[in-house]
Amino acid sequence: MGHGMKDKWWSPVFLKQREREVHSVSDTFLLNLEDDFGCYRKVFLTGRLEQSLIECHNAVKPLNRVRWLIRTCDFSGVQSVLDAGCGLGFTSNAFAQLIPGASVLGVDMSEDAIAYAKQAFPGASWKSSVISPEMGEFGRFSLIYCGEFYPFSRNREIDTQIEFINYFARQLLPGGKLIIYQEWNKCESTFSILDEIRERCPDLEFKVRLVPCPRIPLFVPKYIAIGISMLADKVVGREFLKRIIEISKKI
Ligand SMILES: C[S@@+](CC[C@H](N)C(=O)[O-])C[C@H]1O[C@@H](n2cnc3c(N)ncnc32)[C@H](O)[C@@H]1O
Repeated sequence: MGHGMKDKWWSPVFLKQREREVHSVSDTFLLNLEDDFGCYRKVFLTGRLEQSLIECHNAVKPLNRVRWLIRTCDFSGVQSVLDAGCGLGFTSNAFAQLIPGASVLGVDMSEDAIAYAKQAFPGASWKSSVISPEMGEFGRFSLIYCGEFYPFSRNREIDTQIEFINYFARQLLPGGKLIIYQEWNKCESTFSILDEIRERCPDLEFKVRLVPCPRIPLFVPKYIAIGISMLADKVVGREFLKRIIEISKKI
């Protein structure tokens, strides 16, 4: 693998290439569980989440995280959700459970992940597909959620990120929101280039919002939950307080 290609491992074309390779493996001992696709393949082949390292790849228990998101952003009136890069579908399922009446579509390029999601979470719809501006659109949505979606969370290529943001913005219904959620505050991400992106997307509105650690119960007032999360950040040295980017079209 050339150096440039290695750097671009997150790009849809290269990632799909790897997904195809892993998808053809049928011996679980040959799978690299540190890789998303190796982990999904193991879940698919064994029918079990145990010993797949899934917790390293997906938000496995996202109910409280989604509750805090709903409380932080105004999702009233959300009728349709696209969960872009949904993995095994835990977060899509949480949206389906917590936003009653909303239709939820989970999309991931991993065929193994989507096969699992279809069977485990019948309350949402599923599609195995590469997500990229070249691949066409998925519909119109009031909420598009990108949780640790690599085209946003693993590079600082301004042109690429703007292309993806515009691509998702085109799929927003009037009043709809695109949410970029990152697990870690990495410098290879939308956050580190947000000012430039904002400047080059004058038709879009960008808001950075703080979401408390999902372990804090919902009855705690939000400003206290944020304070506790900040303190935990400092004391433990991990990121409990999440910053998310909320993007909508300017009216
Ligand atoms: C770290 S996992 C996060 C999964 C899930 N969003 C969560 O937070 O639990 C990233 C997922 O995004 C998917 N993904 C990344 N880039 C993609 C793309 N361009 N098209 C489709 N899926 C993509 C990967 O296959 C992987 O399942």
